[in-house]
Amino acid sequence: MTSIFSLFLVFTLFIVSLLIILALIVRPRSVKIPIKSRHVFITGGSSGIGLALAHLAVSEGARVSILARSVSKLADAKQSIKLATGVDVSTFSADVRDYDAVSKAVDQSGPIDVLIVNQGVFIGKELEKQSYEEVKFMIDVNLVGSFNVIKAALPSMKGRGPELKKRPELTSIIAASSGSMKTKEVAKICLDGIKGGKFTVTCHFIGYLLSIATSGMSPQRSFWDALMEVMFGGFVRFVGLFFQWGWYNTIEKWSNSKLA
Ligand SMILES: NC(=O)c1ccc[n+]([C@@H]2O[C@H](COP(=O)([O-])OP(=O)(O)OC[C@H]3O[C@@H](n4cnc5c(N)ncnc54)[C@H](OP(=O)(O)O)[C@@H]3O)[C@@H](O)[C@H]2O)c1
Repeated sequence: MTSIFSLFLVFTLFIVSLLIILALIVRPRSVKIPIKSRHVFITGGSSGIGLALAHLAVSEGARVSILARSVSKLADAKQSIKLATGVDVSTFSADVRDYDAVSKAVDQSGPIDVLIVNQGVFIGKELEKQSYEEVKFMIDVNLVGSFNVIKAALPSMKGRGPELKKRPELTSIIAASSGSMKTKEVAKICLDGIKGGKFTVTCHFIGYLLSIATSGMSPQRSFWDALMEVMFGGFVRFVGLFFQWGWYNTIEKWSNSKLA
């Protein structure tokens, strides 16, 4: 009975200590992002998830702009939101693959408070049946398009105009803390990994930790690595939170030094 009580006490102490450590290190700090009376800009807002988000944001008092390609779908979306809420949303017809068109729409819409990058296309076929054009289309809309939207909206969201021409100073400071490797070393490790049939090839210890932390649903051939993922996934996340704590401290110090 005493030993069960001791075990329970140790477990409780462990959990409480863990909670205290997490409360101290977890970064970024928790934040509430208000929606009411703010400008919410939704790409792919003319149907599906984007349209549902637009309905919700309007009903919570936001000023909403939606962007998509088809003018008629945008008009239908506007109409359905007006019918449901009595509120008009702004619509912008642009293809996210066209940076200039996206940038124009973003400028016309006025300062954005909340940007929801939601546009997406998916051609559901086995990879070998997909044509080059289809794959490129998905990457262009889903990935490059998202980059275009963020690039167009971010400067005004951050309240600063000029674009950074080289690696941002802060990126260099953070990158310097993780060391670098020679190209030949990286190439050899990659090739060995490929020859070994690995799905994830990591180059150093931090990379290995990252692969454990992000293993999720990825395939795994090695039972040893699978064991590491199963046993240490949570612990590596804990270690990762310490890394983030360090990075966010660096960001805070850097921002304070710029403001001083
Ligand atoms: N629905 C789900 O259960 C689900 C689950 C997981 C993931 N997803 C993913 O989430 C994303 C949205 O899903 P959904 O069901 O809401 O899709 P959806 O109903 O097809 O909506 C896609 C939206 O993106 C817009 N869009 C597509 N290509 C565009 C482009 N080049 N430029 C600007 N806008 C573009 C579409 O309008 P226009 O065609 O007029 O441009 C539409 O407004 C997709 O990537 C989908 O694969 C969906």
